[in-house]
Amino acid sequence: MKRFIFDTYEEVCSAASELYVKQLNEKPDTVFGFATGSTPVGLYNELVKKYESGEIDFSKARSFNLDEYYPMKKDHPQSYDYFMRDNLFNKINLSAFSLPSGEAPNAQAECKRYDAEIEAEGGIDLMLLGIGHNGHIGFNEPSVSYSMGTYLTKLTQSSIDANSRFFGPDEVQPTEALTMGIGGIVSSRKIILMITGDGKAAIAKKLFDGMIHADVPASFVLLHPDVTVFMDKAAAGNL
Ligand code: GLP
Repeated sequence: MKRFIFDTYEEVCSAASELYVKQLNEKPDTVFGFATGSTPVGLYNELVKKYESGEIDFSKARSFNLDEYYPMKKDHPQSYDYFMRDNLFNKINLSAFSLPSGEAPNAQAECKRYDAEIEAEGGIDLMLLGIGHNGHIGFNEPSVSYSMGTYLTKLTQSSIDANSRFFGPDEVQPTEALTMGIGGIVSSRKIILMITGDGKAAIAKKLFDGMIHADVPASFVLLHPDVTVFMDKAAAGNL
């Protein structure tokens, strides 16, 4: 594991974006894994800037996202599909992007289809992850056992509460999601984990205490042979 701690969130995003330049130079047809949440937004802005200035070209690359609420219409402003189009996909020239479909009539069939689609594209080269306050990655919530492949999961109250800020008072907030499993995530060739803000300091302390915690899903990511962690001082405050 490589871990970098920067003074500010902006520096984290700028440093992480350099890995995308390097990755695309080495492999223009990279298969990216992308994440939602507020943490990667600054990185997505950096990637858009680099695309607009001609520094990077995504035309041969494609992407898969970690997760999507279920059920969820693609065009709902709180869907992860909408979030990704709004923050990144509409602003760069990726050749294709996929998310698990929150509109699929049969969740189990959609999970199988999604895993087969990732496999058919040769797997994920560079996976981006954020982390939930309870240590979740994607929507793999703390548990005693974890799914290898994509699956339908119930969100914990902590995750529902954390994401409630995005939903209006009259909007129904989903309590389930389709998410890549831990197995799918750690099958990626490289992983970037971003941990920023003082709200993540407590989980960061547990994650880096030298133990693999079965109830911290992000712990399993640290076993990956090529993981780069980017943190700001706020999140690293308790280390
Ligand atoms: C959601 C997503 C995760 C993300 C997490 C943290 O639950 N499913 O992929 O890492 O939120 O979000 P934030 O970056 O807003 O703290």
